Order: sequence, then structure tokens, then C-alpha cells
Amino acid sequence: MPEAIYQFPRGFLWGTATSSHQVEGNNFLNSWHWWEEQGHILHGHRCGLACDWWGGRWREDFDRAAEGNQNAHRLSIEWSRIQPTPDKWDEEALERYREMMRGLAERNLTPLVTLHHFSEPMWFLEEGAWENDRSVERFTQYARKVVDALKEYVNLWVTFNEPNLYIIFGYVQGIWPPGKASFDAAVKSAVNLLRAHASAYRAIHALQPTARVGMAHHYQDVLPAKAWSPLDRWATANLHRALNEMITQPLTNGKLSVLIFRRNVPEAQGTQDFFGLNYYTRSRIAFDVTKASEVFARRFFPQGADVSEGAFIANEPLGFFRAIQWAQRSGLPIIITENGVNDSEDRLRPRYLAGHIHQLWKAVNFNIPIKGYFHWSLVDNFEWERGWTQRFGLWALDEKTQQRTRRPSANLYAAICEANGLSSQMVETYAPEILNQLFPER
Ligand code: BGC
Repeated sequence: MPEAIYQFPRGFLWGTATSSHQVEGNNFLNSWHWWEEQGHILHGHRCGLACDWWGGRWREDFDRAAEGNQNAHRLSIEWSRIQPTPDKWDEEALERYREMMRGLAERNLTPLVTLHHFSEPMWFLEEGAWENDRSVERFTQYARKVVDALKEYVNLWVTFNEPNLYIIFGYVQGIWPPGKASFDAAVKSAVNLLRAHASAYRAIHALQPTARVGMAHHYQDVLPAKAWSPLDRWATANLHRALNEMITQPLTNGKLSVLIFRRNVPEAQGTQDFFGLNYYTRSRIAFDVTKASEVFARRFFPQGADVSEGAFIANEPLGFFRAIQWAQRSGLPIIITENGVNDSEDRLRPRYLAGHIHQLWKAVNFNIPIKGYFHWSLVDNFEWERGWTQRFGLWALDEKTQQRTRRPSANLYAAICEANGLSSQMVETYAPEILNQLFPER
């Protein structure tokens, strides 16, 4: 049988994504360490050494990425290491990150660097975090410091990772630090965060005119449970606006508009050079009068959905295509900054990966300007309030012994990266159950 292949354009970026608090270990000065001390992590889990990158194991993991034919890596900088107290910049920590950037360059891995991936210094929280107007200048100074130190090696920057989830979990639901549950605090914080992004965007360009700066936006695809139900459609549209468009809209038109709240943030308009997109899953939405704090939207996966462990993620590749079409409305080049699934047994991941890469190819073939794809994640890491219960790595990690074990999906992804495409042979080997679906005309 001749092999068929869905081929990607030359120069496409293939990588994995990680974040500082989740992989470095021993981050004692940040908000998430404090949150852990307060006992908010499932089963009392501890981040501990995480993947021990701060202890130097980034070297072996970068080797794994390079040996897996990846040509890019997305990682983040830990603000609390760079600025442990408001009046101190830690030059040694900056030097350590420079060394990591050289490590990427030596392995031909193009870096994409995130400045804020959920964690922030404890002193920043004590100052009132994003509710304090001073946060804008604080973040800009930090961004300047990092970009100045790393610009020799880095051209692609993400200011904030998933600010919509950060605001909803940290300021509306209170399940993440700083643990607030107040719409007023949430709106105020979202406005300052957008201002901080806009100010950092300009500061980065002033320091590095060639820089490409964006955000990593979390998009969840939502469909009404019953397409004919006006109430389900209303709840779906509301959730889509509140969740998916809370941050992207002001970046387009300078206006924040969530539920009954309206704020002008004119300086945010047009402050992205690319659109970073994180996509994991699609949900059905039913109107539910008891869910006032969730805009009357009850989320669920349909019966028979192909779900991950704990029914956390449903494998819905078509939702990925819709996410990309939605991102395309920005008119910007798109980078898939995250996509992946929790699956300790690697039972679902191969078909999840193949199915999503197939939709990605379809979008590229529809001439949507997508520049790269970063799989979440390279190696299992600390999953926020769910601790070590969820395994997103191409490589498994035993956090006690620091031993890594290759999952079959690591081989599938290595084959995709090497071929710069997805072939029928790969699907036949790793996910035969979807071969006819992905290559029907073979
Ligand atoms: C976050 C990651 C997280 C992943 C899996 C994304 O929303 O950016 O930090 O590990 O989801 O839950």
C-alpha cells in the first residue's frame, strides 16, 4: 500500500511547551508555593523538585526534545526568581536562563518565551497584584529586564499565558491564587493585566524591534446541548463571550465587555504580532438556572465521548479546527502554543495527537497562516491545583526518582516532526483505529 502524507510547509515550528513553576522545582517565593502551603493542592501534593530543571535536568529534557526531531520549545521565566524582592534583580538567575537559551540554540530548538505563566512573586501578591494599578509598571519593568537579558537568543515572546483562565480561577472562582471571588476584583485585574500587556508589548519592541509578541489564549469550543433550544444557545453564546473573548476582544477593539461590565482599554488595541492559541477540548452547554456564577451554563461531554482519565478532556479534533477558524478572525499569523491530553497510559494520546495534527494540516491547507505547533507537554509536570494526578507528558516522569520513560506518543510525535507531516504509515502504526477516518481514499 503506498504511503500517503499530510505535508506541512517548510520551516513549520514543531515543539513542546512547558512552564517554569511546573518543571523547575524549588520555587519557594511565588504565589503557587504559598497556595500549596495553604493546603489547596489535591491530595496535599507538593510541587517539590518538579522535573528538576533548576537543578540542571533541562539539559537531558532538551536532549529528548532534539532527539525527537523537534525544532522549537516553549518555556516560561519565573518572575520570582528574577525579582525575588521588589528592589532586587537576581543577575545569577538571569544568567541561568541565558544558559538555558544557549542550550536550546545548541540543539537547534527555536525558543518561544512566556513571561507570565500563572505564577508571580509573593511580594507582588502582597502589594495587591493586578488590583493595584502599580502592577502595570511592575510587570513592564520585569519584562524589560528579561527581554534585555535574553534578546540575543529569543525573538518570540508571550506576555501572558491564558489570562482568561487566570482571571476566572484566581479572581472569580477563587480556586487559584490569589483566591479571590469577586467580580469587581476580576474586572479591575483584567484591565490592569491588559494594560500591563500593552505596556510590555511596546517596551519589548523598543528594546528589540524585530521581536514578535503575543499572548497564549485559551479557547474552549462550546456547542449548545440542544441546537434547537434558545436557552442552550443563549447560555453557549454567553459563555463563549465571557470565556473565550474576554481578553481577545479588547486586544482587537480596545473594549473589555464581560457580562454587565464595560471598560475601555484603548492602549490594548492592536498589541499582538501573532495569535497564540491553546486548545484542549470541546464541551456541550445546557442552560442551568442553578449556575448563576457560571453564566447559567452547565458544561458536559456528550454520551460516548472519547474522554481522558477522569473525563477531564474529550478528544474533539473538529473543535480544534473551529478554534483555529476563530483565531483566524484576528487577521494575525497563528501559533498553536498548547494542545495535548492527560493520559498516563498513553491509551488515548496517539489518536488524539494524530486527529489534531490532521485538523491542523487541514487548516494550513485552507491557507490559514499557522506557523507552528507546541504539544503540551514534553514531560509530565506539576498540574497546578490537581498536583501530580494528571500526566500530560510525551515522556512519563516518576517525580520521586526523577526517572523519565518514553511513551509511544513520543515516537509518533518524533516521526511527525521528522517528516514535517503526518503519514498513513504513522497512523497505521500508532493509532490504527482511526486510519480509515484519516486516510479514507487510500
Ligand atoms: C495550561 C498549562 C496546563 C495545561 C493542562 C493549560 O491550560 O497553560 O499550564 O498544564 O493546560 O491542564
